[in-house]
Amino acid sequence: MPSLPGVGFRFAGVGAHLPEKVIANDDLSDSMDTTDEWIRERTGIGARHVGGMTSELAIEAGRQALERSGLAPADIQQVILATTSPDFMCPGTAPAVAHGLGLDCGAFDVQAACSGWVYGLVVANGFLLQGMDNLLVIGAESLDRITDYTARDTGILFGNGAGAAVIQRDDSDAGRILGWDLGADGDYVHILYSEHDGVLTMDGKEVFRQAVTAIQRTTTASLEMAGLTVDDIDLVIPHQANVRIVEAAWKRLGFSMDKTAMILEHTGNTSAATIPMALADSLYKERITEGSKVLFLGFGAGMTWSSVIVDYAGSLTGTAAW
Ligand code: COA
Repeated sequence: MPSLPGVGFRFAGVGAHLPEKVIANDDLSDSMDTTDEWIRERTGIGARHVGGMTSELAIEAGRQALERSGLAPADIQQVILATTSPDFMCPGTAPAVAHGLGLDCGAFDVQAACSGWVYGLVVANGFLLQGMDNLLVIGAESLDRITDYTARDTGILFGNGAGAAVIQRDDSDAGRILGWDLGADGDYVHILYSEHDGVLTMDGKEVFRQAVTAIQRTTTASLEMAGLTVDDIDLVIPHQANVRIVEAAWKRLGFSMDKTAMILEHTGNTSAATIPMALADSLYKERITEGSKVLFLGFGAGMTWSSVIVDYAGSLTGTAAW
């Protein structure tokens, strides 16, 4: 099993941003046969935000994270943008984001669907090991561009948003990654995908099943690497596609919803943006303090899955995006 030893880090600043326009569940009943009650009961979602390009949303979340870190643009050495809804097929969206933030550094996209931001966190940690000091890891999506809001399965789930964190090397070693796991199984490409210029197509039941399995698998691997048990984790920040997926996985793993950072009701499924937005929200609500063991948990199309357990250092203020 790989390990990732040897470097301390802290979240030096976080940000979260949602576009203004909201599609509430009741609004959807105009374009499809559905109700607020059904969507809430079956998914936990109350509303989703739409509008804005991925780069615009990413720049706003990144700007907040940078400002809160107290760093200057010249201090950021790399931008990693996790997105599954890039502005263009080519080039990647990260260069435009770096430009918009006035940064002069490397910038690239990570495409691992809803697992992307946690993939980005592991990649960022690799750059810290190579000697970098400050990186910006953003998750941003304009999923409204690939969502059919008349479709009863996908149209109720997806929305736009962005979250960002400045990852900073910290040689005091107070904070660090304790365990991680990244995985993928391309045998399941067909259960959730969008063709070029298409919209998301989904086998909802199979995605549900595979997601629960992936969550169990990656959580177990990260806990094992960290030498921790479920009881040692103070807060889980999971990807949020449907609250019932999280509840089903928690039943098998033994986590409680009290220790889970949920934002889904206000945002819908924002793919790679969900976890960093939930991080910003958790810090805002002071659910994470010095020494907290936080499990970040991604799963999504691919299938891909990802998890990281962080020993949290610092005393950041978060953001309420809604
Ligand atoms: N509104 C109201 N009723 C709906 C509906 C909607 N949007 N969609 C389906 N229904 C009805 C169906 O007609 C069916 O009615 P019937 O029992 O009278 O025949 C019933 O609800 C059940 O339909 P089904 O398709 O089995 O729903 P489901 O329980 O599988 O829920 C999803 C659908 C999409 C909410 C669910 O499959 C899901 O969330 N899957 C995971 C998707 C996901 O997480 N994707 C992203 C991964 S990152």
